[in-house]
Amino acid sequence: MDSMNRPWLLGPAWEAKRFDQTGWRILPLRLFLAVTFIYASLQKLANPNYLDASSPASVVGQMKALESTSPIGPLLRLSLHAPTLVGLLIAFGELAVGVGVLVGLWTRLAAVGGALLSLTFFLTVSWSTTPYFYGSDIVFVFAWTVFIGCGAGGVLSLDAWIRLRAQQVPTGPRSRASGVESELIARRTLVLGARAAGLVALAAGAAGALTAVVGRAVGGTRSTTAEPSLRGPAQPSLTASPSSAGSTRAHHHHGGSSSRTAGVAIGKASRVSSGQAARFNDPATGEPAWLVHSPQSGFVAFSAVCTHAGCSVGFDSSSQEFRCPCHGGRFDAGSGRVLGGPPPAPLRRIAVHVVNNEIRVD
Ligand code: FES
Repeated sequence: MDSMNRPWLLGPAWEAKRFDQTGWRILPLRLFLAVTFIYASLQKLANPNYLDASSPASVVGQMKALESTSPIGPLLRLSLHAPTLVGLLIAFGELAVGVGVLVGLWTRLAAVGGALLSLTFFLTVSWSTTPYFYGSDIVFVFAWTVFIGCGAGGVLSLDAWIRLRAQQVPTGPRSRASGVESELIARRTLVLGARAAGLVALAAGAAGALTAVVGRAVGGTRSTTAEPSLRGPAQPSLTASPSSAGSTRAHHHHGGSSSRTAGVAIGKASRVSSGQAARFNDPATGEPAWLVHSPQSGFVAFSAVCTHAGCSVGFDSSSQEFRCPCHGGRFDAGSGRVLGGPPPAPLRRIAVHVVNNEIRVD
């Protein structure tokens, strides 16, 4: 009797049987996926740049940078009509998936959501990654299939607890006799599951909202694998409207050679002090780009499109580096060369020169 109440007294045989369950074997992977998705979600919500359309690190900035390379580019273009909604759906979707898998509630459904999100990231952020296994999203897609097939495996899961409770509610002799008992249990399981899902969603939603408020109050999170929040002085933005570009293209500097004054004017050099950088759009390609006032190299410009998988890089003035929010690529801000991470090539250089305090793209 004593050993029935305390099964560990049964010794190694009981232990072996207990840990033989699939649920225990897949528990480390389940915890890893759940914690990763919760972390990724809270990091997005705490990052003030995430929903700030003017930031290249925002969800809009990333979608714009990826729409030309992704096979689901038309879908990204469509999403750009409601970027805040899409950004919130991604962040809260990740949170729902992570929490669902962590507590083992509607685990299969949560795993389907996780697989769809990972597939979306693979088709966008990781699409240009070569070889394909350098990007983690494809690995996540296949990891989720384990839980689509097995759920939580009956281990440490609300699903299992709810099923047990639904079975414990006594059913009348009439329903037992008419053979609808299992149907009643299934219905009860669904109702109890929906109630639990509502409560968990409420708690997770409140935690997400609180993270967003606290994140903005303390200045946001720094970058890791998702959108960055590079600290430092506000980065000015040079403006190059097509009309001003057209009018300055033919304007020659008095006494200078036409080759010095050719090109498209994109803004005033005095707006970018030494050690700082400013964003502009490359007039030739329309791609986002950075103008850097390098203490060593003077004014230099680079495409902001990361050579690894096409994410938009951010400028970090304290280290004089460009940093990629997607997989941690790092580039020297003075030369564009790769300093670390998976990017296979330097950032594309854009030739610029300064005439009469005016920056011109050649
Ligand atoms: S896109 Fe992978 S490091 Fe930039």
